Amino acid sequence: MRDRMRVALFAAVLLNLTGGLSHCPLQVTTERLVVRHGDSYTVKCENSTGDALGNRMYIFWQVGRRQIPGGVWEVKNQTDWDLTRAECVARHTGIGECRKAVDVTLYKEPDQVLIQSVGHMGALIGDTEYHLQCDIPNVAPVRNLTVRWYQDGHPMADKGSLYLTGRPHEMLDFDISTPVNVSSNISVSFGRNQSRVQFTCEAELNLGQTDSLSNMSHSLNFSIQHKPSINSTKLQPKIPVFRGYPEELVCEADGNPAPDIHWFSQNGVLGSGGNLNVTEGGDYTCNATNVLGSNFYVVQVVLKEDYLPIIAGFVAVAVVIISIVFIFFYSLYYKNTKMRRYSLKNHKLNTENGNVAHNSLDLPIPLAKLH
Ligand SMILES: *[C@@H]1O[C@H](CO)[C@@H](O)[C@H](O)[C@H]1NC(C)=O
Ligand SMILES: *[C@@H]1O[C@H](CO)[C@@H](O)[C@H](O)[C@H]1NC(C)=O
Ligand SMILES: *[C@@H]1O[C@H](CO)[C@@H](O)[C@H](O)[C@H]1NC(C)=O
Ligand SMILES: *[C@@H]1O[C@H](CO)[C@@H](O)[C@H](O)[C@H]1NC(C)=O
Ligand SMILES: *[C@@H]1O[C@H](CO)[C@@H](O)[C@H](O)[C@H]1NC(C)=O
Ligand SMILES: *[C@@H]1O[C@H](CO)[C@@H](O)[C@H](O)[C@H]1NC(C)=O
Ligand SMILES: *[C@@H]1O[C@H](CO)[C@@H](O)[C@H](O)[C@H]1NC(C)=O
Ligand SMILES: *[C@@H]1O[C@H](CO)[C@@H](O)[C@H](O)[C@H]1NC(C)=O
Ligand SMILES: *[C@@H]1O[C@H](CO)[C@@H](O)[C@H](O)[C@H]1NC(C)=O
Ligand SMILES: *[C@@H]1O[C@H](CO)[C@@H](O)[C@H](O)[C@H]1NC(C)=O
Ligand SMILES: *[C@@H]1O[C@H](CO)[C@@H](O)[C@H](O)[C@H]1NC(C)=O
Repeated sequence: MRDRMRVALFAAVLLNLTGGLSHCPLQVTTERLVVRHGDSYTVKCENSTGDALGNRMYIFWQVGRRQIPGGVWEVKNQTDWDLTRAECVARHTGIGECRKAVDVTLYKEPDQVLIQSVGHMGALIGDTEYHLQCDIPNVAPVRNLTVRWYQDGHPMADKGSLYLTGRPHEMLDFDISTPVNVSSNISVSFGRNQSRVQFTCEAELNLGQTDSLSNMSHSLNFSIQHKPSINSTKLQPKIPVFRGYPEELVCEADGNPAPDIHWFSQNGVLGSGGNLNVTEGGDYTCNATNVLGSNFYVVQVVLKEDYLPIIAGFVAVAVVIISIVFIFFYSLYYKNTKMRRYSLKNHKLNTENGNVAHNSLDLPIPLAKLH
């Protein structure tokens, strides 16, 4: 009696479900099964073997075309790439059925991740475009694969395009579940400030698990060569040089390998190095050369007479002449006035002397008188 009631109750629930299928009482241990290719797993479907339902309730797993009786689905070494979905089914004859689905994602990490430059070996040259390729063989599923490129350890903005290895111009079918060989390629070029660079690529399988599965390539290192470039901030196209005052021309150039710098004029090469003392007018060319090429800069040197010493000389001569003239006239005048004063003084002195002489003469007189 109680059994009959329970059966009726469950049947009512199932009928409800066949109508709307929104509240299936079945419970599976996982609804999203993520399995590494070759691994083994077990999924259970519960409340499916209630003895109250007796033989009238039939529970099984529907995996592809296969039916696995009972509530336990056990898989050993999964290799079936077509498997994307399994269902636990509770069927009651005459009432209907209830299903609970399990999404299956079978994945495979790539055998390896390889990075290479396409059609190029050795050093790279600045301001030239190069193609790098990242090969990711034997990976699944490709829809959950993300390829990342790193330059000097920093993620690059360019994600590259993903294609089947060897077929860069075909659209990649992202619905493929089986392992594929895929590649990503990017184009790169380098500015003058870069002399060496390191690239790596990463293949990440993002399967909705907390930890993503990531495989890195080894690093691809390049040195970058640059044509010489003369730093023109220290040079002017036209410079004046005063006779007798050498001017130093400084020619600096960067490049990789370090450029060989020399100056030349119509007289030929003027020594090596970027510094040159010029004393003569003319066109001077600085030439910076390395294996990639050369860069030159022409300086027009204009020889100028230095008028400053001449002007200074004139001023000095004028000052001397004026001084002489002044001294001459002054001395003339001074001599005159001095002579006159002296004559007056002498006169006065004479008169004083006269007095003295008189006084002194007074003495001899009495002396004479004494005689
Ligand atoms: C499954 O059955 C147990 C009792 O056997 C019950 O406690 C549980 O609530 C049931 N679960 C579901 C989802 O019906
Ligand atoms: C199945 O997987 C186990 C490990 O999970 C491994 O030891 C065994 O060799 C595998 N068998 C086959 C046939 O691949
Ligand atoms: C992937 O590449 C390997 C060689 O690296 C080859 O043996 C294999 O057949 C390729 N797989 C596919 C699906 O093209
Ligand atoms: C790199 O990818 C582009 C398309 O994004 C393609 O045109 C080009 O040929 C590819 N290069 C190589 C070397 O595969
Ligand atoms: C080179 O210069 C660019 C900007 O011109 C800058 O973004 C980059 O970080 C520089 N690289 C180095 C290695 O200095
Ligand atoms: C993996 O790919 C499937 C299909 O594109 C998608 O539904 C799922 O969300 C992906 N998983 C993650 C974690 O992106
Ligand atoms: C790829 O990475 C996983 C862990 O994320 C690791 O177990 C596996 O060995 C790696 N494969 C290769 C080829 O390095
Ligand atoms: C590339 O350079 C880094 C250091 O910048 C070094 O750790 C790494 O081993 C180099 N890789 C190769 C393949 O030479
Ligand atoms: C050129 O030289 C000036 C002055 O020394 C310096 O500030 C500047 O950075 C240099 N430019 C280059 C491109 O080296
Ligand atoms: C140019 O002359 C200055 C001093 O007059 C001297 O210090 C410098 O070394 C000279 N440069 C060269 C390249 O001879
Ligand atoms: C600079 O030197 C290089 C190598 O010696 C030469 O090929 C080039 O013609 C020179 N440039 C000029 C402007 O003379």
